[in-house]
Amino acid sequence: MIEQRRDFLRKACAPVVMTVLGIPMIEACSTEEVEDSAMGATPLTPSEPLILNISEGDLSALKTVGGWINYTAKDLLMVRIDQATIRVFNNRCPHQGARDQWTFDGSSFTCTNHNNSYENSCSGQLQCYNASLDGDVLTITP
Ligand code: FES
Repeated sequence: MIEQRRDFLRKACAPVVMTVLGIPMIEACSTEEVEDSAMGATPLTPSEPLILNISEGDLSALKTVGGWINYTAKDLLMVRIDQATIRVFNNRCPHQGARDQWTFDGSSFTCTNHNNSYENSCSGQLQCYNASLDGDVLTITP
């Protein structure tokens, strides 16, 4: 009887352990989190400021107060605050990392992946970068 019980536990333990360990592995495989380099962008590096001319291409949206752009080439979410200020954020959603599903309502950004909104402020949840504007030249430093 005891030998049968030991044999049962020996055989049953492996599937039980696999089940217990398997649940987190399945969850990890099913997460919707987006890898940082998923979009193929070249993110900012701490050693080099990024200098952009906002009169060029899609960046010209930033010439108008209230204009905004999700600049996926550099993983940046940018909005023109006033004549002298452009606010620049990392476009990685704080929720699960989506970078390409942003909308802007004039005061906050919404990631439509799960409809979370983030204030247009450097004291909010979006990672904010230093940015200075000189004419049409925008200089961004991490
Ligand atoms: S990834 Fe969920 S709201 Fe952005």
